[in-house]
Amino acid sequence: MEDFRSLPVINLLFADAQIVVARRSRARRSSGGEAQPRDRRLFPPTDPTPAMLRYVTTNAGKVREARDYLDDGSVSQLDFDYTEIQAPELEPIAARGAREAYRHAGEPVLVDDAGLFIDALDDFPGPYSSYVEGTLGVERVGRLARDADEADRPARAAFRCVLAYCDGDSFDASPDPIDRGDRAAAAAAGHEDDADAATLPVKLFEGVVRGRIVEPRGDGGFGYDPIFEHEGTTFAEMTAAEKNAVSHRGRALAKFAEWYATR
Ligand code: IMP
Repeated sequence: MEDFRSLPVINLLFADAQIVVARRSRARRSSGGEAQPRDRRLFPPTDPTPAMLRYVTTNAGKVREARDYLDDGSVSQLDFDYTEIQAPELEPIAARGAREAYRHAGEPVLVDDAGLFIDALDDFPGPYSSYVEGTLGVERVGRLARDADEADRPARAAFRCVLAYCDGDSFDASPDPIDRGDRAAAAAAGHEDDADAATLPVKLFEGVVRGRIVEPRGDGGFGYDPIFEHEGTTFAEMTAAEKNAVSHRGRALAKFAEWYATR
């Protein structure tokens, strides 16, 4: 299989993607809960607000799933416009986003970066899934995947989710999350302001689920859910609980919840 960047339509998109440093829409501070910020933080907030786990995304679907999963009333959405660097992996994007979101919010943040990795397209759209959803669209991505695969074989794919946690505290961070391209990608994108990357620890949690790309089915979920089938059912045909039980996000949240319970 040739590299997906050599496919004509992908090549065009990719060229565009190089110059697009995607930014999340409108920054907004959310209101908080009861607990006070931790005093162990390396970077205490200048404007302290009640400590609550901020799920950093503009995607309401992600927050619904996180709330259903964690189900403790302590998660709120932070619709923050963090810089989404261009990188071939989700980890550095999420790690850098978490540092930036923490610097903004001054309280515990969880950044969720996810993507659809299609085998027949050499893992495209991967970290560019959001951009591609907004340009090609979900149905065309599905058609591309099915056309690129052998006619009598379902197109295989994986959903991946990386959660990046940062609370300004010192803890045993994931091994070198910044060495996985974070600094290089930030520098390449002209964002060299991540000076405290080495001292602001980030913990990463990954979840992966494999499935196949099919004709769109179902009304639930969001994004690529209608074309992603797992064991005979598309994510869009599942309830939130059913999806969380098997999904990339559910798996990442399970790892996070287990670790967070010890904080
Ligand atoms: P981001 O992580 O918000 O950048 O999302 C990347 C892309 O993947 C967007 O197009 C989302 O709609 C899509 N996406 C992320 N998570 C899911 C999911 O659980 N189901 C379907 N699409 C998703």
